[in-house]
Amino acid sequence: MNTAARFHQDLLDGKIKPTLLVRNIGQLCTIDAGESDADGPRRREAMQDLGMFSDAAIVVAGDLVGAVGPEANIVGQLFPEGVPADVDVVDAAGCAVIPGFVDPHTHTVFGKTRQDEYERRVKGETYLEIAAAGGGIHSSVKDLRGRSEEELVELATVRLKEMLSYGTTTVEIKSGYGLSLDDELKMLRAAGQAAENAGIRSVRTCLAAHEMPHEYKDKRQDYVRLVTDEILVRVQKENLATRCDVFCEPTVFDLEETLIILSRAKDLGMSLTVHADELTSFGGAVLAARMGANSADHLIRIDEQGRQALAASDTVAVMLPGTVFTLGLKSYAPGRGMIDQGCALALASDFNPGSCPILSVPLIMAIACTQMRLLPAESLVAATLNAAWALGQQAEVGSLAPGKKADFLILDGDDFRLIPYRAGHNPVGSVFLGGEKVL
Ligand code: NIG
Ligand code: FE
Repeated sequence: MNTAARFHQDLLDGKIKPTLLVRNIGQLCTIDAGESDADGPRRREAMQDLGMFSDAAIVVAGDLVGAVGPEANIVGQLFPEGVPADVDVVDAAGCAVIPGFVDPHTHTVFGKTRQDEYERRVKGETYLEIAAAGGGIHSSVKDLRGRSEEELVELATVRLKEMLSYGTTTVEIKSGYGLSLDDELKMLRAAGQAAENAGIRSVRTCLAAHEMPHEYKDKRQDYVRLVTDEILVRVQKENLATRCDVFCEPTVFDLEETLIILSRAKDLGMSLTVHADELTSFGGAVLAARMGANSADHLIRIDEQGRQALAASDTVAVMLPGTVFTLGLKSYAPGRGMIDQGCALALASDFNPGSCPILSVPLIMAIACTQMRLLPAESLVAATLNAAWALGQQAEVGSLAPGKKADFLILDGDDFRLIPYRAGHNPVGSVFLGGEKVL
């Protein structure tokens, strides 16, 4: 018997006590396909399988999902004599229920916002031109280094609470605006504290290789060594992040430097991800797949070799269409074609002060549907279960199956497709995290 089936049986046998019943769910999208979901992230037609029930219910036991299915079956099986008084009951009023969103790529810890650069881009300058003129990541680095950890915690907490209000229940948070030992550690500590304050699940990633700090411009190898021999070692020792990321781009960290940093992180037991093929087709995705990275992210410029490498691997292709939208670029990553080719696709916000101030996953889904031609169902799987795979969190979150975390959203409408359809609207009625109603 698999975990879910055993959990369900224990509930029937009374070994696990139900604590909450959510009933009258018009459309329940569990995103659960049973045992096949253990094999790997969803691909091709499986990206459309929402594990859907109508007139459904969820039973929660503590912080975990106990049972899901048609309400008549669930109630008949578990509560033949009526719902016990000590089980809370929530009436979903016919609305749709989905798993909480998993956002697997954000840069949530930063100081100032960069709307000045936004205006310059609207006038015609490009992201790289602005970066070369002293803007971009470097300006956020300068700003962040001057701020206290407490200040960063406060700023990030507000942003994480806003994410939660848009339905994100698990979020990845990167460092990368510190670019020195102390400032990178400060960022990661701030990320952990802010997530705790906001009451959101988080996974932290060390992105010390986000940019070459100005002070190392003429001694690149020394910075790579600082990352491999000091920053990653301390991050791992102090348990500040479980993942390592590199911005792999000819003008940032080249393939060889990326390989050195990721190899070291792997040796330290960290899982890997790469900012790959964002601005240039450069072999980043191939490298990510070859190194067994959990994900390769951005991929706007991915070439055929990169697509084939991802399709043949379990490395999730994380698309960040909010970035393309914000930068006003003409072409999006080839999401539709990559799904058809067998890549496992996930969506993320890439929330950051420069290239994407959007933190709403519902809006990201809308952009993915109209601009990359993902089907609404594919966009939902990409923003939940496949996003959980991108973070290696698929056993805990991303779908509603017995034994997984009871993180779910009651929407304000009766059809999940209203999420991308109503671009810009917040479709979240209420948020449950670990079986508790938090919003
Ligand atoms: O994911 N690509 C690199 N990093 C960010 C941009 C960060 C910034 O501009 O501050 C991104 O788009
Ligand atoms: Fe990013």
